[in-house]
Amino acid sequence: MKRLVILISGRGSNMAALLEASASGELPVFPAAVISSSSDAGGLRIAGALGVETRVVDHASFDCRAAFDEALAGTIDDFSPDLVILAGFMWILGDEFVRHYAGRLVNIHPSLLPAFPGRDTHRRALAEGVRFHGCTAHFVTPDLDRGPIIAQAVVPVFDSDDETSLASRVLEEEHKLLPRVVRWFAEGRLRMVGGRVCVDVD
Ligand code: GRF
Repeated sequence: MKRLVILISGRGSNMAALLEASASGELPVFPAAVISSSSDAGGLRIAGALGVETRVVDHASFDCRAAFDEALAGTIDDFSPDLVILAGFMWILGDEFVRHYAGRLVNIHPSLLPAFPGRDTHRRALAEGVRFHGCTAHFVTPDLDRGPIIAQAVVPVFDSDDETSLASRVLEEEHKLLPRVVRWFAEGRLRMVGGRVCVDVD
């Protein structure tokens, strides 16, 4: 079974969706560890309660990104993962780190990339007046939020939406999309063709 390491920084609802899918047998992966960049991330308690090993690599205790990246990679590699998931991990990782995990580092981003890379995606989507918004699961490359797209989910944007209502509609889709993509990876159904991801569907 493929070994999964999940990186979080906060609430951990995407992490919880993965751990629950794995516990129910729906997702054929072994969640080897959850690693947080902050000791007060709520997701750490959820992972612990589900019996998953947790570690903290506290971003605040490093004075440069390279040192943080190195400590983080060392902690990840202790668990020999086949796949590393950024599930609400809030820090930008350096090129060396990203290259070390090439083809096995996946991020879930709350917008339809390439629209709205970076932060505050829901606020920016509302400000632009887009009628559709959503989320993207993609392989991570050194270009922020620009790696090969694996899958996306789309939601409508209503005139009555505010940031909270839109975020919650998108989050509901993230919780379905991320386990689906991880299952494709675990089943060997993702292929790169000319820099793009192809999925072998059922
Ligand atoms: C999610 O919307 C994720 O896409 C973004 O940050 C949020 C994290 O939520 N990167 P959670 O910690 O998974 O609940």
